[in-house]
Amino acid sequence: MVFLCLFFTIEAVKKDYILPSLNEARKRDKNQSEKRYFSLDDRYLGLGNGKHYYIITHGCQANQRDSETMAGILDSLGYKPCADEKNADVIIINTCAVRQGAEEKVLGEIGALKRLKKDNPDLLIALAGCMAQEEKTVSLITEKYRQVDIIFGTHNITSLPKLLYDVSTSRKRKVEVFSKMGEIIENVPVTRFMSHKAWVNIMYGCDKFCTYCIVPYTRGKERSRNKEDIIFEVKQLLDQGYKEICLLGQNVNAYGKDLKLSYTFGDLLNDVAKTGMPRIRFMTSHPWDFDDSMIQAIKNNPNIMPYIHLPIQSGNTEILKKMNRRYSREEYFELYDKLKAELPGFAFTTDIIVGFPNESDEAFEDTLSAVDHCEYDNAFTFIYSPRSGTPAALMEDRIERSVKEERLQRLNEKVAYYANKNNQRFRDQIVEVLVDGVSKRNSEVYSGYTPENKLVNFTGEDIRVGEIVKVKIKEVMSFSLNGEKVDE
Ligand code: 5AD
Ligand code: SF4
Repeated sequence: MVFLCLFFTIEAVKKDYILPSLNEARKRDKNQSEKRYFSLDDRYLGLGNGKHYYIITHGCQANQRDSETMAGILDSLGYKPCADEKNADVIIINTCAVRQGAEEKVLGEIGALKRLKKDNPDLLIALAGCMAQEEKTVSLITEKYRQVDIIFGTHNITSLPKLLYDVSTSRKRKVEVFSKMGEIIENVPVTRFMSHKAWVNIMYGCDKFCTYCIVPYTRGKERSRNKEDIIFEVKQLLDQGYKEICLLGQNVNAYGKDLKLSYTFGDLLNDVAKTGMPRIRFMTSHPWDFDDSMIQAIKNNPNIMPYIHLPIQSGNTEILKKMNRRYSREEYFELYDKLKAELPGFAFTTDIIVGFPNESDEAFEDTLSAVDHCEYDNAFTFIYSPRSGTPAALMEDRIERSVKEERLQRLNEKVAYYANKNNQRFRDQIVEVLVDGVSKRNSEVYSGYTPENKLVNFTGEDIRVGEIVKVKIKEVMSFSLNGEKVDE
């Protein structure tokens, strides 16, 4: 016993970091989150001169935006991006923890980087993002993946200069992962990966605690940026020539609630629309507090794009209850039908999980019939993946994997049927497409999105990325449209 205690004490002393804790990350208080400004210590300036970085991003838009922040910080230190990881002095893997598959992919990637590290012992490898917030990942990486030099969490991105400096000077691995509720940091450098479309964070974190989801633990409590900071960023983007922004939050409808003002997401939508940004999108809306002020704002502002993503997750009330989604099948339909009626011509997409613990055949049939009811333009469908630390991971599940796979396939067939059906209305129509780029397979084919977020592949002359062009649709598929550019 004495020996055991001594062992643990030595272990604790040996580690110069604190393991993250999902249990700790669960905590919430009612206080407004602290806001502070980023500043770069002079001692870190020039740290990256002559050096290159490479960032691998997994997961959602929040992660993509975080990678742009990491790139901005690295650029301000003097690092330059490179297109091939073999030439990098720093590689960051920004991870997603939402499903097991995403985690396994990352572990495979880190394994493969061992070879690069062997060829270049000065290479620094960093693990960031949602996986870094899990104690099991930090323990695994520190014990088994010696090639990783830095682990930093979603709350620790602005510590990147210090972490790089400390590792470079000490040649010892550094881990900084806070399990706190989170703060708001403004003025952080950003290098956007696109020059015509931009992500704009309006809030961070999530307080919904759906029982299957790891996000409330990895990204802290719901906290909104001040509207002035958001509008300033949008105006700046407009001045820089951006054509489209997407307002980001795990649940944008909850915007402003933590600020204890009467200013809501509907008000923000109106104010952002007033900036004159040509295309405005938002992501993601929870059906829970999708209120009338949001509907009015969407209706009244033609630069808010006719596209709504409204995750249903399941069409069965009992499963929805077990998921802690806060709405029944009927309540979802009530909102959905209202949105459809008030917003004609809009495209609607959703997220669906199949195989939630002990989902019965009847419950799954309810999900299928919900898709029949809603006739979505598209749906992102997933097999439930247990996430340790979440309540659903403790629920009994007697459903075989093969049954879940079969369900996913049946669901996907239905989703494709309605996607195709919805796309038919675009046949022979002229649509406006914001040009994203040229196809990797054929340099004469361009691609971009319509206001309804439909992917269009098209040909034509005189086409530039970032332009909004008119395209006549000639061919309709389930998940894309083909056409030809037409003159004004
Ligand atoms: N297993 C499967 N899918 C999940 N999602 C979130 N957590 C899980 C999980 N544990 C899905 C939800 C969510 C989307 C981003 O990912 O559908 O809306
Ligand atoms: Fe995004 Fe969630 Fe994945 Fe984190 S766990 S990267 S918040 S999808």
